[in-house]
Amino acid sequence: MQGSQPQRTTGHVDFVGAGPGDPELLTLKALAAFGRADVVLHDRLISPEVLSLAGQSADLVDVGKKGFGPSWKQQDIDALLVKYAQDGARVVRLKSGDATVFGRLDEEIDALDAAGISWAIIPGITAASAAVAAIGQSLTRRGRNASVRLLTGHDMKGFADHDWTALARPGAVAAIYMGKKSARFIQGRLLMHGADGATPVTLVENASRPDQRVVATTLDSLSDTLATAGMDGPALTFYGLAPRDAARAATELKEELA
Ligand SMILES: C[S@@+](CC[C@H](N)C(=O)[O-])C[C@H]1O[C@@H](n2cnc3c(N)ncnc32)[C@H](O)[C@@H]1O
Repeated sequence: MQGSQPQRTTGHVDFVGAGPGDPELLTLKALAAFGRADVVLHDRLISPEVLSLAGQSADLVDVGKKGFGPSWKQQDIDALLVKYAQDGARVVRLKSGDATVFGRLDEEIDALDAAGISWAIIPGITAASAAVAAIGQSLTRRGRNASVRLLTGHDMKGFADHDWTALARPGAVAAIYMGKKSARFIQGRLLMHGADGATPVTLVENASRPDQRVVATTLDSLSDTLATAGMDGPALTFYGLAPRDAARAATELKEELA
């Protein structure tokens, strides 16, 4: 005999990019996903202003990790996502910036695929885009750099290795995520591979937030600058880019001296 129990429908997971912090940088699609969500699983870096929009009609669950040491194991986050969706919830998995950039997205998608749960990605504004806007520069520029690298200062094994020779070439530009702890390592590797110590380096802390701060330095001075800057917030390090005004002043000085 057929039972009369209500059929349990499987939920769905939206991976939503929360942007760099300014709630006005959320997309309309992100807001629509918040409106549909039963539960929002979020990372530590999401700003309180964005969280207040996300949590208007949904439960908020903080699954944040801090620096090198995870406070939530990735497998536990994967399992929680699957559990909520299997219970029929519409889940928003809210990640800072864009979920596809240093967001540990693939592990979570694999877990959902293995459980047969549907998902979608809603793009967000990555920290590099917000930070480069803060210094009035372009990530790429005709005649200067035809490519830009998004690098992480560290990965699961420790400091991350990169193509230092390519980065050391004049005009190279990189946006370095999670680069504060690894600044001395990156500085050493680049100088060892022949980078000019005068290459501009700019740190943008809390990009797009009310406490945004820009600190301009050079490759030679990077670790000394960081040691005295007292940066506690998330920071994006631009290698090869100075704030536009500083770049203009340096060019003018060069022309005067020539
Ligand atoms: C785990 S990664 C996540 C990146 C994120 N998915 C994105 O697209 O921006 C965290 C790093 O992003 C950078 N970051 C995130 N938000 C930032 C902000 N508002 N200002 C500066 N850097 C930020 C910092 O380098 C931080 O250590």
